[in-house]
Amino acid sequence: MGKGDSGGPVPQHVAIIMDGNGRWAQQHKLPRLSGHEAGRKSVKRVVQAAIAHGVRYLTLYAFSVENWQRPREEVQGLMGLLRLVLREELAEMGREGVRLRAIGRLQDLPEAVREELAAAIEKTKSNTKLDLILALSYGSRVEITEAAKAIAREVKDGRLDPERIDENSISDHLYTRGIPDPDLLIRTSGEMRVSNFMLWQISYAEIHVTSVLWPDFGKEQFASALADYAKRERRFGGV
Ligand code: IPE
Ligand code: IPE
Ligand code: MG
Repeated sequence: MGKGDSGGPVPQHVAIIMDGNGRWAQQHKLPRLSGHEAGRKSVKRVVQAAIAHGVRYLTLYAFSVENWQRPREEVQGLMGLLRLVLREELAEMGREGVRLRAIGRLQDLPEAVREELAAAIEKTKSNTKLDLILALSYGSRVEITEAAKAIAREVKDGRLDPERIDENSISDHLYTRGIPDPDLLIRTSGEMRVSNFMLWQISYAEIHVTSVLWPDFGKEQFASALADYAKRERRFGGV
């Protein structure tokens, strides 16, 4: 773990619930989609800030399984935006050493998005500066349910002894297999809830909630979240 500007530890993995695009749009008397478009710029700023601070993994909650219930127009707008971002940011991700990854029910995404995503993942797979993990059609309960099913199948086929199932067996069947758990969880726009995000993985994450809306979140807010983290005393149940 590296040292930050303040001399304290830098989180290896930061996960962010990017919330408040709709409220930002409302404040500016704009359609909700304009809020999502503004949020795209925050993503860029935060990726650059994460690299500058030496964060190694950045997970962004971009679309939840529950978000499919939103009006069709908004869902389509978000999917269109996602496709555009993947295409337009690919070159920059390459230049900055970003490895793109994705977690969630990717099979639910429109084919055009899946293709763009697969191409970006493939083209950036050797980059090592920052793993940028997009949570797309992501739901933690469905992730855990799928893991339980996969484990049950292995037991049924005689490939796994139930007595040997441990916490690592569960972790190894989640979308985040091989990725260290988040050290810091940030939620923007002030909501004090986790909204079905990485329930297993955030067991011991430090939580930073800011009232700043996601489109207003930038380098300074990221730095203050890291400074807040650096002051925390992580005990993991010890003394
Ligand atoms: C977060 O902003 C982005 C997504 C969930 C896709 P919201 O769209 O939830 O914004 P609010 O919560 O309505 O302000
Ligand atoms: C959480 O935000 C999901 C994402 C940021 C993608 P929501 O706006 O969907 O969550 P709730 O409805 O406030 O719990
Ligand atoms: Mg919201």
